[in-house]
Amino acid sequence: MSALAPTKNLFYLAACALSLAIFNTSSIAQSAPATLSSPKAVTEPLQGLAHTASGIELSNAASTLMIDAMRPDVLRVRIYPKGHPAEDASWAVLPEARKARVSVTSEAAGFSTSALRIAVDANLGVSVSDLAGNVLQSDAAPVGWDGTGFKVSKQKTGDDHFFGLGDKPGPLDRAGQSFVMWNSDTFGWQESTDPIYKSIPFFLEMHGGRTIGILFDNTFRTYFDFGHERADRYTFSAPDGPLDYYLLYGPEPKRVVETYAWLTGPTPLPPLWALGFQQSRYTYIPRTRVEEIASRLRADKIPSDAIYLDIDYQNHNRPFTIDSASFPDFPGLIHELAAEHFHTVLITDPHIAYLPNQGYMAYDTGKAGDHFVKHNGQDYVGPVWPGPSVFPDFTRKQTREWWGTLYKDFVDDGVAGFWNDMNEPAVFVYPSKTMPDDVQHRIEDPGFAPRTATHLEIHNVYGLENSRGTRDGLLALQPNVRPFVLTRATYAGGQRYAATWTGDNSSTWNHLRQTTPQILNLGLSGFSMSGADVGGFAGSPPPDLLTRWLMLAAFQPIDRDHAAKGTRDHEPWVDGPVQEDIRRRYIEERYRLMPYLYTTAEETSRDGVPILRPLFLEFPHATSDDHPLDQDAPGEFFFGSSILVADSPSPEEVAPYTVSLPSGLWYNYWTGEKLDRRASIGTRDLEIRDPTATATPALPPITVQPGPGDLPLYVRGGSIIPMQPLVQSTDEKPSGPLTLRVFPGDNCHGDLYQDDGMSFDYRKGAYLRLHFTCSVGADGSLSVDIPKREGNFTPWWTAFRIEAVGWTSSATQVSIDGHSAALEHTKLGWAATVSDTGKPLVVVFH
Ligand code: GLC
Repeated sequence: MSALAPTKNLFYLAACALSLAIFNTSSIAQSAPATLSSPKAVTEPLQGLAHTASGIELSNAASTLMIDAMRPDVLRVRIYPKGHPAEDASWAVLPEARKARVSVTSEAAGFSTSALRIAVDANLGVSVSDLAGNVLQSDAAPVGWDGTGFKVSKQKTGDDHFFGLGDKPGPLDRAGQSFVMWNSDTFGWQESTDPIYKSIPFFLEMHGGRTIGILFDNTFRTYFDFGHERADRYTFSAPDGPLDYYLLYGPEPKRVVETYAWLTGPTPLPPLWALGFQQSRYTYIPRTRVEEIASRLRADKIPSDAIYLDIDYQNHNRPFTIDSASFPDFPGLIHELAAEHFHTVLITDPHIAYLPNQGYMAYDTGKAGDHFVKHNGQDYVGPVWPGPSVFPDFTRKQTREWWGTLYKDFVDDGVAGFWNDMNEPAVFVYPSKTMPDDVQHRIEDPGFAPRTATHLEIHNVYGLENSRGTRDGLLALQPNVRPFVLTRATYAGGQRYAATWTGDNSSTWNHLRQTTPQILNLGLSGFSMSGADVGGFAGSPPPDLLTRWLMLAAFQPIDRDHAAKGTRDHEPWVDGPVQEDIRRRYIEERYRLMPYLYTTAEETSRDGVPILRPLFLEFPHATSDDHPLDQDAPGEFFFGSSILVADSPSPEEVAPYTVSLPSGLWYNYWTGEKLDRRASIGTRDLEIRDPTATATPALPPITVQPGPGDLPLYVRGGSIIPMQPLVQSTDEKPSGPLTLRVFPGDNCHGDLYQDDGMSFDYRKGAYLRLHFTCSVGADGSLSVDIPKREGNFTPWWTAFRIEAVGWTSSATQVSIDGHSAALEHTKLGWAATVSDTGKPLVVVFH
């Protein structure tokens, strides 16, 4: 099947013919092919080819290629100089996944699995196809070696789309651009800045409606080029380290993301409070200011769960100390905040002040245990916030364990979460802004052979191992409390240890717009728990920008208002009651949706599908030529699987804009209005590929013109959204029924997950899971099915309020398990309240 739709294909051929006539052959070589080609079929066995149970090994004079099928749809590809296999180790990939292998069927020049066919050639070129012969990936040139460095080149078509690579700014689709991985402290970064804080060398490549994922597991300064240098190639390269990559086959993008979670681990279930609104600033100081902020949040009824203390709570910025002049009775403050249902999050940067013989516990114990990285045989000392500082050697297990013990007093004081900042690692030396390349790190970790490694190899995993030490340390201190760790720098797999944010953004409209593609790409790169400083870090947001930001962030996984020193106040109440009312309204909506958000977070912790999703993740075939619908709708995304947020592509203007909805039945979230957007031709299922169906174009976009306090949200027909009565913090027990807001449509369902929100008791059965369904009968009645509870957690509610949104039946009767009950007319449709005794129920709106 062609990768391009017929009309586009014809156009492409005509364009090629024209360029043939006009340009010389070298410019032709640069044009992107319409489809990928595989190497010529080889029928004779290749010299040097050895079949293994799970793949092949093929050597030429210089190198050896090893391909293993870890699953039918997951390959690991390695090439190493002949006779020098790289160590089989990884900071990113889970040991269990790395060991997985399946048996394959040998072929003359390759092998096949039940999902993929792999062909190799004498130049160690690799081509991967699906079983129908569609080429998914094919080498464009033999691997180029230059000493220890190498470059892998793959063919690219004109309609290839690339996503992932973590927090890198810019548009959602990374096609046509190039990137470098080198964790960098980039205060005031802009859309064109690369690299910034994280190195997540994982991307999705999508063409012709088929998606693969590539994890290039190399921690050095790696490079990615998605058709920037040559339109017909994409490449990834490294100056050193292993040539080791994993290919994950979809064909659906959601499947690729799920498989990536299998490979590197999903984002764990966060404590419930971490999904609440979080208030931060660099720095709330002294103690009375923190108390003021807390009381104002409560007095103004801004639902909120967390308050952050930035570096100035410390004595001279020294990690694991307290400035007791500004913060007398620190434990008292933490308890006071906890009594008001605020969870305190403390910053704990990785640099330890270099203070020999001064009774500084973090330095003294670190020195005694030889826990700092070395330079020229001495502890490396570099300047950061506290002045001269030393840096824990986090690639040693024993160093991570020591680091974890430093949290003991804070945990005993009741501190709820920790913030690992500056862990690129940032060092105030210019221009590198990090430690010298030849700093020595020690690798002493199960799964790795013990050795020393230069900073060039460890730099990009420093933040990952820092956050791992924090999470593991917190688990050692409180084994039955889910940790909350926020990290700035990390590497692939880091989602296992910490949530993240996009660092020092700016208070501009462009940065507000940037939050959507950044958080979406972070989600596609495994980091479901991500956010951006609300209101922008650098600079002072004008009132309408802060309002808009607080509105949008209510539908982002982490909702944290944060600001730099010297900027104006950022809290929701600044700018007066009109702005505050709008801001409060959106934060309140987030809290009403908490059961839906928490259920989504729990699903993520099992399947890796992020909380925030691009449209193409839910509707990969929403356009007639299978280009991602997101391209037509840059302000849109899914919050969970059912709610589509449609922000303006130019939020600074109160002007009309278009909203593209995938073909289907939709509801306006705020009004309940039904929008029948089912395309009139074809029956193709837009969510699940049906290769025999013809394309079904979506209907033209709709035009909206929201007012300054309005953010359009749409709900997919066929969704049941669990909601709760408003609370002021997630600690508060909601009073009233659990609402099931039913948006009738095909395949109607919804899920609910509940537990105590903080412990691991759910692993022993202390949870509640419900899978609701609904259907419309031949007589026009709507029935909602509530099944038997799964799990033994007792929830806070004793009744369900079932709301039938947009239900316009003329009859005004509801029956609950056959008994008629009262029906109530609401703004959105009709509703009935029924007590929940834990038994299955069928509620029918006639
Ligand atoms: C870094 C962080 C920022 C923090 C500041 C002071 O710039 O990115 O969030 O407020 O350091 O700790």
